[in-house]
Amino acid sequence: MNILLLGAPGCGKGTQSQYISKEYGVTHISTGDMLREICKQGTPEAVKIKRSIVSGELVSDDIVIELVKKRLRQIDYKNGLLLDGFPRTLYQVESLPDLGVEIDHVIELHVPDEVIVKRVGGRRVHPKSGRTYHILHKPPIDEGKDDITGEPLVLREDDTEYTVKMRLAEYHQQTTPIVTYYKNEAEESRVNYHRLDGTQTVDTVSNQIFEIF
Ligand code: AP5
Repeated sequence: MNILLLGAPGCGKGTQSQYISKEYGVTHISTGDMLREICKQGTPEAVKIKRSIVSGELVSDDIVIELVKKRLRQIDYKNGLLLDGFPRTLYQVESLPDLGVEIDHVIELHVPDEVIVKRVGGRRVHPKSGRTYHILHKPPIDEGKDDITGEPLVLREDDTEYTVKMRLAEYHQQTTPIVTYYKNEAEESRVNYHRLDGTQTVDTVSNQIFEIF
């Protein structure tokens, strides 16, 4: 079972990925997490990637596709894949057959832009694991600390109001065509498409996802 989670920045893809991968044993691939790992390396490529992320632009298709290709060679995904943040351009969708990935379920988490802008400012992350919290909606047990390791939580560099607005603009321009593409695929019965209201509580959304499967 290969699942694609689609939706605007901050709609809850990473949050729901934690529950889905735990429940179904599918292998989670987050291109955002992978790119942030590379940014720590300080190579010329890392500097270029970081510049794109911090300015709210997408990283080039070729870099991202190559990264996913490499990751798929390294991991075991016999129970299926959970794609979070990839593909997010039509060019990336077209790369899927070459990568040997066929999508079975698309889950779109729909959240209006104005909710996103407010929500993302309250996000805190554990950089090593990618675990995500929210100061109001999903607080850690101890304020400012990761539940598992106790290490400090941080605000992502691209979670400023300005950058979030840039990321939303990029989403509407580059990723919305994918939503249309997969809805058409669903009409032809080539994929199962599910649109959920991502403004509901985290638990309500995960329960709705579990009902689907
Ligand atoms: P990426 O890391 O993929 O960011 P994104 O898609 O913008 O999504 P986010 O991680 O911001 O949000 P999310 O949907 O996972 O929400 P979360 O669960 O954390 O990409 C970052 C950058 O990398 C991109 O801008 C781009 O530059 C580059 N990149 C990545 N992939 C790329 C690709 N394929 N091609 C090109 N460039 C690429 O939730 C957000 C907050 O809300 C959290 O605090 C959470 O606790 C809270 N929350 C979650 N659900 C709820 C709820 N139901 N109610 C209330 N609060 C909630």
